[in-house]
Amino acid sequence: MHTPQQAREQYQQHFGEGARIFFSPGRINLLGEHVDYNGGFVLPAAINKGIWFAIAANHTNSANFVAADIDESFSVELDAIKKLDGWKNYVLGVLHILQQKKYVIGGFNCLFGGNVPQGAGLSSSAALEAGLVYALDKLFNLGLNTQQMALIAQEAEHSFPGTKCGIMDMFASLHGKEGHCMLLDCNSLHYEYLPIVETEYELVLINSKVHHSLNDGQYNKRRQEAMEGLSFFQTLNKNVTSFRAVNPDVVNQFRENLSPEVYHRCLYITQEIERTQKAAEYLKSNNLIEFGKLMYQTHKGLSELYEVSCGELDYLVTEAKLQYDVIGSRMMGGGFGGCTINLIAKNNRDNVVSSIVSSYQRVYDIQPEVYLVETSNGTHEM
Ligand code: GLA
Repeated sequence: MHTPQQAREQYQQHFGEGARIFFSPGRINLLGEHVDYNGGFVLPAAINKGIWFAIAANHTNSANFVAADIDESFSVELDAIKKLDGWKNYVLGVLHILQQKKYVIGGFNCLFGGNVPQGAGLSSSAALEAGLVYALDKLFNLGLNTQQMALIAQEAEHSFPGTKCGIMDMFASLHGKEGHCMLLDCNSLHYEYLPIVETEYELVLINSKVHHSLNDGQYNKRRQEAMEGLSFFQTLNKNVTSFRAVNPDVVNQFRENLSPEVYHRCLYITQEIERTQKAAEYLKSNNLIEFGKLMYQTHKGLSELYEVSCGELDYLVTEAKLQYDVIGSRMMGGGFGGCTINLIAKNNRDNVVSSIVSSYQRVYDIQPEVYLVETSNGTHEM
């Protein structure tokens, strides 16, 4: 689906007139990866790819969903919400958490679809969850603010889909601002918008087309290893409430007390928390050359210490690094596939991208997709 009109028309075919239309964007992240659930800072931005919802109350006790892009539908009685499978769990998770928190909603019809590629690390699932919470809030006057919505969407993802994700994706989807990224402190949820200034460089995403899925266990395993590390530092000092109170020197000092895996995870987390703060300063002073260097460092950490990259993503970053006109590149999002984010000189962008793409194709026999980044506002009614 590519336009809100398509959402409206397809809704009419299924349910008739009267739908309200909402848009919920996917996100990119400039830096600060796998630190949202570790008390760090992140630098996400909402993008112009996302999900449109056509939705209206139906004055019954059932919720009827149509996933227009894959031509699937299902209905559920509101007093019989339970876990099913696949995409259904994202929307059911939202209903489950709203009910658990005693928010009263009535029956509704909802058709959704979009243009944010799935499994590409652009947060299609968070866009779905955040968008549904937002739309239901408007439909049934739940009185939620966008921070509460983000927390509900996050809990929804933890519930039926079962990925113990951080807050970044849903927060970015709900709070995006065109032309800006945000520096979000994932401990306090304070954020500030930083303008993405027009320069001679631009952000380009290259989709490895290796399908990433966060609910195959590896993501949750990283979170568990990180928690194991944090618990150790808490035994040293009970005032440690998050990795913000630890730093790479401390991690190195206690290396022998940690398993090699947990040591590597903790080292990456504490380095990335420091890196993101530096990166935000470089962005503010428009120093993209130094910012780009940090992107490469983050990739190295994600690949070697946090171990969430894969051969294909490493290859894309290595190829990018060989290009003089690429000043930064790294895997983006949860990892195990999905996109790299690249900072490329505009005047040579096409040559650079086609060189990376064709060498990737030669080696992996996969045709990657390329997206130019355009930022957008957060979830809103159209
Ligand atoms: C996924 C999760 C986020 C975040 C990123 C990695 O997108 O949903 O919470 O942890 O991975 O930065």
